[in-house]
Amino acid sequence: MADQTRENLYATYEGESKAYFRLLAYAEKAEEEELGRIALLFRAVAEAERVHASKSLRLLREFYVKDTQENLQASFEREQDAAQKRYPEFIRVAEAEGNRPAAVAFSHMRDAEERHATLYKHALQFMLAADDPQYHVCPVCGYIAEGAAPETCPVCGVSGEQFRSIS
Ligand SMILES: [Fe+2]
Ligand SMILES: [Fe+2]
Repeated sequence: MADQTRENLYATYEGESKAYFRLLAYAEKAEEEELGRIALLFRAVAEAERVHASKSLRLLREFYVKDTQENLQASFEREQDAAQKRYPEFIRVAEAEGNRPAAVAFSHMRDAEERHATLYKHALQFMLAADDPQYHVCPVCGYIAEGAAPETCPVCGVSGEQFRSIS
C-alpha cells in the first residue's frame, strides 16, 4: 500500500474514532436540553462514524493486526507502559494543577491498566487453556475481574452488581 493512502486511512481511523465519542457526548447534552430528536441525529451519525473508523482499520489490518500471540504481547506492553509511565505522569501533573477529579480518574485508570497487563500476561501463558474464562468489567474505572464479579470493585469501590459480563 502506498504510504500516503496508508497515512490517510490511519488519520480516518483516528478522526472517526474520536468523532464517535464526541457525538455521543453531544447526544447526551441534547438529551439534557430535552432535544431528543437532535440527540437521535447525533447517535445516528456517531454510529455511522464508528462504521467508518472500523472500515479504515480493517483496510490497515496487515499493518496493525498481527497474529493473536503478537497482539497479546503488544497489548501487554501498551498496558504496562500506560500503568507505569503515562498515568503516573498524568496523575502527577493533575495533582500539581489542583485537578482532583482528573487525578482520581487517572489513578483508577492506572490501577485498571495494571490489571489488564496481568490478564494479558496470564493469557500469553495459557493461550490454549481448556476452560472458558469469564470476564467482568467495572463500568466506572475499567477494572476487570476474572471468574466471578467481586462484591465491590477493588479499584473504585462500585458495587459488583454493576459490572458488565463479557461472554
Ligand atoms: Fe487497559
Ligand atoms: Fe471500578
